[in-house]
Amino acid sequence: MSKIWTVLAGISLIGTVASANIALCQGCHGKNFEKKAMGKSKVVKDMSKKEIIAALQGYKAGTYGGVMKRTMEGQVKKLSKKDIEAIASKIKK
Ligand code: HEC
Repeated sequence: MSKIWTVLAGISLIGTVASANIALCQGCHGKNFEKKAMGKSKVVKDMSKKEIIAALQGYKAGTYGGVMKRTMEGQVKKLSKKDIEAIASKIKK
């Protein structure tokens, strides 16, 4: 029995890491996205879900951002459109 639980826990962990892992984001943006990341970003929790998706997709496409945009481009590079939507849903739940 305990083996099954270990396997299940492993699978759900992989799922979280691959899709919408926001732990890294929280390191800069704050646990509830209430901080100005590195003193430069907007307070993301005050943005609408639409704005967050547009910003993240813009960083990915290289069409959005301010002085620190390179930082965010590195963060979103590997995310798919679906990942971005899942992350935005997690931030604005
Ligand atoms: C290394 C620190 C760092 C990490 C990690 C990080 N960010 Fe950022 N984020 C920033 C900075 C700095 C900016 C402002 C960039 C700029 O000048 O455009 C920013 C901007 C943003 C913006 C747009 C806000 C604005 O000012 O227009 C969103 C949305 C955002 N981040 C979400 C995320 C998400 C979601 C993650 C995780 C996938 C993440 N960030 C990871 C530092 C970080």
